Amino acid sequence: MNNNKCCCAERSHYFDKFDKILAMYEGKESDLIPILQDLQEAYGYLPQDVLDELCNRTGMHPTQVMGVITFYSQFRLLPTGQNLIKLCFGTACHVKGSDKIAEALKEELKIEIGETTKDNKFTLETVACLGCCGLAPVMMIGDDVYGKLVPKDVPKILEKYR
Ligand code: FES
Repeated sequence: MNNNKCCCAERSHYFDKFDKILAMYEGKESDLIPILQDLQEAYGYLPQDVLDELCNRTGMHPTQVMGVITFYSQFRLLPTGQNLIKLCFGTACHVKGSDKIAEALKEELKIEIGETTKDNKFTLETVACLGCCGLAPVMMIGDDVYGKLVPKDVPKILEKYR
């Protein structure tokens, strides 16, 4: 490994995705939420250096940006584990017992909502609606959808990803 190698190229590559996303918007305040959504999609979360760059390039104040990030539960400031679990807490899922699924997941994974397991295998999040309310209660692990869940399904499903 060459420790004297300049990291400028790596840095510029890292920000390629950022440049492409910012180019799609005018950088106005009303663009902030879609920009943050696109950045999170591209980076998997919202890294601090990307947020710094966003403030520098748009003139938005860090307090304003952090205000939006902390207000909306969809935004993440830390990387997720290998498998992102999105448990739906929308109305249909809530009525059908998503809180019991949440308890089963927390117990099985030994984490709270919003946390990542120590082995970095799972991150547990809740979302407002996954768009398949007929399957309530629903969760997604990566791109896989699991519906009509009951608590006893949870260990078996998680086993597939361990
Ligand atoms: S409320 Fe859960 S999928 Fe719509």
